[in-house]
Order: sequence, then C-alpha cells, then structure tokens
Amino acid sequence: MMKRVRIGMIGSGTVGSSVLGLLEARKSLFESQGYKVKVLPVLVRDPSKTRDNVPLGTQFTADDKVLEDADIIFESMGGTGKALELVQSQLQDGKILITANKAMLAERWDVLKPYTMNGQVYCEASVMAGTPVLGPLTGTLRSSNTLELHAILSGTCNYILTRMEDGATYEAALAEAQAKGYAEDPPTLDVAGTDAAHKLCVLARITVDPNFAWADIHTRGLEGLSSQRVLEAVRNGKRVKLVGSIVPKNGQWHATVRPVLLDAEHPLAQSASSRNTMLFHGDASGIVIVQGGGAGGLVTASAMVGDLIDHFAGVTGHQPSPEATRVPQNHTPEVFAEL
Ligand code: NAP
Ligand code: HSE
Repeated sequence: MMKRVRIGMIGSGTVGSSVLGLLEARKSLFESQGYKVKVLPVLVRDPSKTRDNVPLGTQFTADDKVLEDADIIFESMGGTGKALELVQSQLQDGKILITANKAMLAERWDVLKPYTMNGQVYCEASVMAGTPVLGPLTGTLRSSNTLELHAILSGTCNYILTRMEDGATYEAALAEAQAKGYAEDPPTLDVAGTDAAHKLCVLARITVDPNFAWADIHTRGLEGLSSQRVLEAVRNGKRVKLVGSIVPKNGQWHATVRPVLLDAEHPLAQSASSRNTMLFHGDASGIVIVQGGGAGGLVTASAMVGDLIDHFAGVTGHQPSPEATRVPQNHTPEVFAEL
C-alpha cells in the first residue's frame, strides 16, 4: 500500500528550483520506497515571476497557509527571520524539516536545537552542499572521538581563490560566483567568512558539543586579500585557502575560520573551483577525507532529496552530539600558517 506524502516547499530560487526538478525525476525511486510524493503550490515571494527552470505545471503561492497541508517541509529560502518563523510552527506540529539554511541553524539554535535533538531536522545540504558529511559524522564516524577537523567550507571563496590563481581580479571572480548561483545574498556573507563559520558551527555541534555557541566561532574572511598574495603563494608551491578548523586548545574546543597558506600537495589544497573538502581525524577512524561540490543548485538539491530518501528509509534527522565530548589532552593538531 503506497503512502501519500505532501511536500511543502519554501523557496524556488537557485536551490529550490533544482529540488523541484529532482523530486520530479526521482518519483519512481520514492514509489519503490513505498511513497507517492505530491508537491503542494510552492511558497515564494513573488508568485507572478516567470520561472522556466521548474517542472511543467508547478504552482506557486505567496500564502504560507499552504504549509498547513504539508507532511514534510523543504526550506530553501534562507535567512534567520521569516524562514525561521515559517519552519518553527511546522516543527511544533511534529513535521519533518529538510533545510539547506546554515545561517538559521547556526544563529537560531535556541529555537532549533530541540527539534534537531529529536531527529526532526535533516540538513545535509547546509554544510558542503552536495558533499555528504553530516550523514557520515552522525553515523559511522560517531564511533570515534574527534581529535581535529579541518574543512574548506565556502564554495564561493574557493571559486574566487581558484580564479585569482588564474589571474582574475577579486571583483571579477566574485561576480562570476554570483552569476553561477554560488553566493549568498548578500555575498559579504561569503567573503567575510560568515557563511563558512555558519557551517563550522553546525559541524562543531555535531562532532564535539551540542551547545557550541555561534559567538565562539572566530572568523576572518578574504577581505583585503590581494591577487599578488595569491599568485606569490602559487609561485612558492603553496595555495591560499579559507579553512575552518575545530581543534583542541588549552583544554577547550576552539573553532576558527581564516585564510591560510597550504602546501600545494595538502589534501585541503586539492579542491578547486567551488568544490569543498573536509578532513576529519577521529581516534578510531584515523583521518577521513571527503571532497565534492560545495555550492550550486543541483548539487545542493542532491543532498536535500537525499535527505528525503533517507527519511523514507527510516534514517533519523542529523542529530547533534548527545553531549560535549572529552577534549583530547595528548593530541597535537595540525597548525597552518595564517595570512
Ligand atoms: P535564492 O536563489 O535567493 O532563492 C530564495 C527563494 O526564497 C526564492 O524563490 C524567493 O522567492 C524565496 N523567498 C525569499 N523571501 C521570501 C519570503 N519572504 N517568502 C516566501 N519566499 C521567499 O537563494 P538560494 O541560493 O536558492 O539559497 C537558498 C538557501 O539555500 C539559503 O539558505 C542558502 O544559504 C542555502 N544554500 C544555497 C546554496 C547555493 O549554492 N545557492 C548551497 C547550499 C545552501 P522569489 O523566487 O519569488 O524571489
Ligand atoms: N554561498 C555558499 C557557498 C553556498 O558559496 O559555499 C553553499 O552553501
């Protein structure tokens, strides 16, 4: 007997429109899992806008009452205001939330923590877009205590740095990243390191402390970085990268995002363009490296639709670490040269 599931979609921009396309393309997979999926009229700011990149027949509305009829909410609107207001009331009603919104997760943990703790929130797309890291970290890698974690978390910043290595100016590279749909609105969230810090905050709560505070992420972005500095690094066999790290320091967990100089052979230096990399070092797992697409509509949609497939398969949402983990005393984490 096929179960009917109604999807309430919030947002149909870069990410949301790709989610709509992928939901349509994977209908028979959902049916093989025992679910008939119906997408309700999509909640957007301006339903009169022409949208030619969504499945034929998709309906749009500006009336958030549409969410009342939904069983599962997909949020790809962004921000910490209206988006939170919309999803909070649905979570209170016990519904499942699938979201790509790392800003909301990082900054409004006061509201969202209980729902993530009880497994209602799936958020693979919020960190490294289409590259699965939250699944492994909340699954297999939970058998390890974290020793250290480092990651390239901003598709936009990595794209800018790669293009600057090719000789593009910072301004031209940022404009290209915006045109490709990688950047946040406003893009200062990317270049100031804030977006990477949002993702690092999600990772810190999942790996080391469910109460890791947003205010405790130390953040520096790419502002003021000259093409000369980027090119000089390449000439010396190095790469400039924006890296987020969670490391033990003076008996506490320390989380920081900043531009660093890496040897060109370092695993974190291998991701070019908008690709991201995470290097996790666990006491049992050893070093695990995951690399893949870090921004863009389709790769992000792949993680959100993957969350739905997991939910149908009975996998719970991405739960934070149940409690603060012991800070390792005898582990010396890797140190990078900061710029
Ligand atoms: P976007 O292209 O700007 O799309 C935002 C969507 O939200 C639009 O459809 C917009 O409606 C709708 N919206 C905005 N305000 C609204 C309101 N008050 N009421 C109803 N709908 C509203 O943004 P995006 O790039 O898809 O990003 C969406 C989310 O995904 C963000 O949280 C972002 O951080 C996250 N994310 C993005 C990427 C990426 O590569 N872009 C990757 C991973 C995660 P209109 O279409 O009518 O304007
Ligand atoms: N603006 C984000 C980035 C989108 O460039 O990484 C993916 O989260």
